[in-house]
Amino acid sequence: MCGIVGYVGNKQAKPILLDCLSRLEYRGYDSSGVAVLDDNIKVYKDKVRVGVIQEKCPQLSGTLGVAHTRWATHGPPSLVNAHPHLDCTGRFAVVHNGVITNYQSLRKSLTAEGHKFISETDSEVIPHLIEKYFQDSIEKAVEDAIAMLDGSYSIIVLSEDASKLVVARKNSPLVIGIGDDEMFIASDVPAIISYTSKVIYLEDGDVGEVTRNNVKITRNGEETKRETQHITWGREDVQKAGYEHFMLKEIHEQPRVIRDTLVENDLLSTRLTISKSVESLSIIACGTSYNAGLIGEYIIQELLGIPTITAIGSEFNHRRTLYPGEAIAITQSGETADVLLAMKKLQSAGIKILAITNVQGSTASRIANRTIYIKAGPEVSVAATKSFVAQLIALYQLVLLHPDIDTEIRDQLAVDLQRIPITVEKVFDLEPQIMDYSRYLSEHDSAFFIGRGINYPIALEGALKLKEISYIHAEGYAAGELKHGPFALLYSGVPVIAIVAQDANHDSMVTSIKEIKARNAHVMALVDENDDSLDDLVDVVLKVPHSHSLLSPVVNTVPLQLLAYYTAKLRGCPIDFPRNLAKSVTVE
Ligand code: M6R
Repeated sequence: MCGIVGYVGNKQAKPILLDCLSRLEYRGYDSSGVAVLDDNIKVYKDKVRVGVIQEKCPQLSGTLGVAHTRWATHGPPSLVNAHPHLDCTGRFAVVHNGVITNYQSLRKSLTAEGHKFISETDSEVIPHLIEKYFQDSIEKAVEDAIAMLDGSYSIIVLSEDASKLVVARKNSPLVIGIGDDEMFIASDVPAIISYTSKVIYLEDGDVGEVTRNNVKITRNGEETKRETQHITWGREDVQKAGYEHFMLKEIHEQPRVIRDTLVENDLLSTRLTISKSVESLSIIACGTSYNAGLIGEYIIQELLGIPTITAIGSEFNHRRTLYPGEAIAITQSGETADVLLAMKKLQSAGIKILAITNVQGSTASRIANRTIYIKAGPEVSVAATKSFVAQLIALYQLVLLHPDIDTEIRDQLAVDLQRIPITVEKVFDLEPQIMDYSRYLSEHDSAFFIGRGINYPIALEGALKLKEISYIHAEGYAAGELKHGPFALLYSGVPVIAIVAQDANHDSMVTSIKEIKARNAHVMALVDENDDSLDDLVDVVLKVPHSHSLLSPVVNTVPLQLLAYYTAKLRGCPIDFPRNLAKSVTVE
C-alpha cells in the first residue's frame, strides 16, 4: 500500500520523482523519501509528507532515481523506517511496496553473514540480498534476490553502477510509463499521467530493465513482450479542478460517472452477464465495495431469485466451504489483497469469477474470467465515492441483462436507470441543507445510520464514510436491529440518520423511528420528495429527488457522502488523506 516511483531520462530526476510521488499519497503518507544517483547514491527521507521533502530536500542533479511514500506495516513511521533502503555499501537503493513474509529468517541469516540492518522494516532485506548476490549484473542480482522472497512486492532498484533501473513485481502493481527519451515507473498510473499516457503494466513474475529509451522484460530469465497501452483519461482527472478536496470533486463527478458506466457496459452487454441457471453466487469485496456487494446481493436475489451471499474478503479466506456456482469480485482498485486472495481461492476451486473494477490491467482483472470496468476515472480521495455509485450501476446492469429477469420490471428499471444521472444532479441542490445539518453532527462524537432492505447497506456506507473522514464514531444498523442491543447507546440528542425509501419497508422504518424518538434521539430522515409522513415526527427531514425504490440506494448515497464531507470539514480533518488509511490496501 505504499507508493513507489522511479525515473530515468534526460532531466533532473528529483523534481519529477517528487511530483509523481505527490500523486501517490493516497497509497500512504506517513513518511517519504527519494534517492538520486549523482556521483553516488544520495538519499533524503524523513517521517514527513512529500510536500515537506519537496521543500527541504537539497539540490540533487542526477537524472536517475527512485522515491517512496509509506503506509507503515513493519515498524512505526520514522526516518530510519522510511524508504529508500540501502545495502551496507550504499551502492543499491530500493523502494518496495508489499510485504515480505519471510523477512525475519532472511534478516537473521544476512545478519549472521555480516549485514547490518538499521530499520525495523521487512523491505530492508531486499537491498542486502542484492548486495549479497551482485557480481557484475544488477538484473541477475535482483533475480537472485527476489527468488529468496516470500510475500508480495513491487520494487524499483537503483544501482550506483548502472544507468538503468531494475524493477520486479509479485502480487503488487507496477506500471512503466514511456516518454520521449525518458521512462517513468510507478505503483499506479495517476502518478505519471502528467508525463505520458503510454504505459506497460508489468505482470507477476516480471523483471524489467528500464533505461531512458528501452524497456526489456524477462520472466524466468526469458525475454517477454508486454503490450503498450494508451490511457484514455488525462492529467485534469487527477487535479482538484477548483474544488477544495478531491472528495468533493469526486462526489460531484457522479452524474458523469453514472452516464459513462451505463454507456460502457451497454456496449459490452451480452458477454458480461451472470450465466443462466447458475446455482448460487458469491460476492467478494471489502469496505465500500462490500457495501456495494450487499446491494448486488439484494437485487440479484430479489430480481433473479439466485441465492447469493456477500462475503468480506478477509473472512472469506478462512472459510472451508465454498458455494457452488459463480462469483463476483468487486474492487475499485483491483489490488485489494484480501479480495485477490479470495479470488485465487475461488479460481483454484474452478469457480468462474466476474470482476467489477475501476482499473484496467489490475490484478483482479487478470485473475477474473471476465471483467466489467466501471468508468469512475481515477479516484484520488481515500474515501470511495464515485467508484461506489459506479459499482452499483454495474450491478444493476448485470441484473437487467440477465435472461431470467421479468421483462416488465426490466423495462421499467432500464428507463429509470437512464434518468438516474439527472436525479443525482438534483441532489446537489440539497447541499446547503446538508451543510446546515452537518453543524449539528460535527458537534457529536457518535452517530447511528439506519436503513432497511435495500437501503440497509446505504446505512453501512453512510456510517463508513462519516467515521473514515470525520473520525466520529458511527454505526450502520438495520433499523430493526437497534432494539436488540444498540438502543442502550441512545441518549438525548444523539444523531440518528434514517434512510427511508418508499418501499415495503417504509412503515417498519416509521415504527423504528418512533421508537428512537421515544428515547429522545435527534433524528434526521432522508426521504423521497413525495413522502410527507415524517414531517412532524423527526427533527430534520431531507427530501431527496424521487427514484424507483430499487434504485434509491444510488440517490440516497450522495447526501450521505456530502454529509460526511461537510462534517469532516467543520472538524478540520484532512479529508482526502484520513489518518491511518490508504486508498489501495495491498496487504492482508
Ligand atoms: O479498492 P477496493 O474497492 O478493493 O477497496 C476496498 C476498501 O479498501 C475501500 O472501499 C475502503 O473501504 C474505502 N476507503 C472506503 O471509503
